[in-house]
Amino acid sequence: MSDPVSTLKVEGLSVRAGSLELVHEVSFAIGPGERVGLIGESGSGKSLTALSLMGLLPEGVTASGTATMGGNDLVGVPESRLKRLRGQDVSMVFQEPMTALNPLMRIGAQVAEVMTLHGTPRARAREKALDLLERVRLPEPAQIARAYPHQLSGGQRQRVMLAIALANQPSLLICDEPTTALDVTVQKQMLELIAEVAPALLFITHDLAVVASVCERVLVMYGGRVVESGPIREVFTRPRHRYTEGLLAASRLTPRGTRLPTIKGSVPPAGQFPAGCVFRNRCPHATPECETVPALTGDGHAHACWHPAD
Ligand SMILES: Nc1ncnc2c1ncn2[C@@H]1O[C@H](COP(=O)(O)OP(=O)(O)OP(=O)(O)O)[C@@H](O)[C@H]1O
Ligand SMILES: [Mg+2]
Repeated sequence: MSDPVSTLKVEGLSVRAGSLELVHEVSFAIGPGERVGLIGESGSGKSLTALSLMGLLPEGVTASGTATMGGNDLVGVPESRLKRLRGQDVSMVFQEPMTALNPLMRIGAQVAEVMTLHGTPRARAREKALDLLERVRLPEPAQIARAYPHQLSGGQRQRVMLAIALANQPSLLICDEPTTALDVTVQKQMLELIAEVAPALLFITHDLAVVASVCERVLVMYGGRVVESGPIREVFTRPRHRYTEGLLAASRLTPRGTRLPTIKGSVPPAGQFPAGCVFRNRCPHATPECETVPALTGDGHAHACWHPAD
């Protein structure tokens, strides 16, 4: 199958810390312009999946499998090469903009720096920095460019991070809980902006309503695996995996009038998920069959569950 140049294709991506497997053989693809959500409870492996695409895994954590973007490999390539690709093929916006910005450097210089590091002449980078600040709808870009991070609001800082992420015209933007720290109205504006400016998007969040408003397709992760994937509307109205069903029920996205159940128990620590279906110790429908690993099956709307809903 030939994919368009800007498609991200991830195949059999696993992430390990020593003998502990944290992400298990995750596969998915993102087409040009496509906005894909990645959801799942805390500890399901969402951030590690994203960080492995950026070559930014923590010390002692390694990725295997393949991820290609525009003909470039993103997994298992030397750090020197990844540094060049980072920001050009894929770039990322994190939750904590204050820690990601240099407190001692003016905003304009920080935005320009990511371009000069990739070979843009200094004067041109300064000009482009102002354009970018305008593109992320910061009022008075020239004034913002002269400011230091602490002089901006949280929402403004997050817009600066978005400008930095877009600076080298990446083909894919990854956002990991980009708006969690913002208040509700600012969050809404930021989400609209991300949806508008992202060339293609992998959007990580706990918030199902947010995913539904930003993305067309969704990947549901649990226990380091993708357990369900498909068009948002289908997955959210007719979930098949019992984990997705539980998540939706717990998030109030159920039809009105039904009781609000929660998923029983809690996410086990890494390495303590049951063998077979990783969800079976919390699943109300589990049978002995679930001791065998279910494969992710189905075109378009896929699920890995022995007793799917629907
Ligand atoms: N450096 C590490 N060494 C060992 N285990 C780790 C390391 N980093 C993360 N983990 C474990 O890997 C699992 C997945 O972590 P990850 O950060 O990807 O989860 P997440 O889905 O992003 O969760 P959250 O929603 O809380 O951000 C967790 O159990 C976590 O404790
Ligand atoms: Mg995370």
